[in-house]
Amino acid sequence: MTLVREFRETDVEDWRRLWDGYNDFYETAVPDEVTEYTLRRLLDPKSALIGRIAEKDGRVAGFSISVLHDSTWTLSQTCYLEDLFVDPTLRGAGVGRALIQDLIDLGRMRGWSQLYWLTRANNERARRLYDSFVEADAFVRYRLTL
Ligand SMILES: CC(C)(COP(=O)(O)OP(=O)(O)OC[C@H]1O[C@@H](n2cnc3c(N)ncnc32)[C@H](O)[C@@H]1OP(=O)(O)O)[C@@H](O)C(=O)NCCC(=O)NCCS
Repeated sequence: MTLVREFRETDVEDWRRLWDGYNDFYETAVPDEVTEYTLRRLLDPKSALIGRIAEKDGRVAGFSISVLHDSTWTLSQTCYLEDLFVDPTLRGAGVGRALIQDLIDLGRMRGWSQLYWLTRANNERARRLYDSFVEADAFVRYRLTL
């Protein structure tokens, strides 16, 4: 049984463990001060960051972090799903699917215009999941570090 809910103060320890796993997956190390700032925003209801936690059989199993923003193309806000991660020991059991479906349901309820996300072209496992929701579009990302 998978349940997806808002991020809470009591999730901090579990989230840090999952966040470390997410960093390992991307072979990166987000600086501690950035992680702490992210955490503060996840706990701030006024922040544009939206943290969601998936629980499987009462255990924290994964998370999504999204950013809600304005758009010049729509009247209502659009949601960028920035981070998605499932505990490696709990994969393949529908937790990732539940985390995306949760954002779709939340967005419909709150009147967002769109939900979008990016992934590496070769992230086959994630793409199999994503393709079951919607077809990827033809946009390519350009990113300049400032
Ligand atoms: C991508 C990820 C979030 C998927 O989470 P998950 O809980 O394993 O996904 P689900 O169990 O909901 O699986 C959904 C689909 O993924 C695919 N899938 C599941 N297990 C799989 C496996 N062992 N091998 C290949 N594909 C698999 C299937 O298409 C499945 O569809 P189904 O629901 O019809 O069976 C998870 O693998 C993950 O955290 N990966 C590392 C981080 C990452 O890639 N994040 C996304 C960055 S954009």
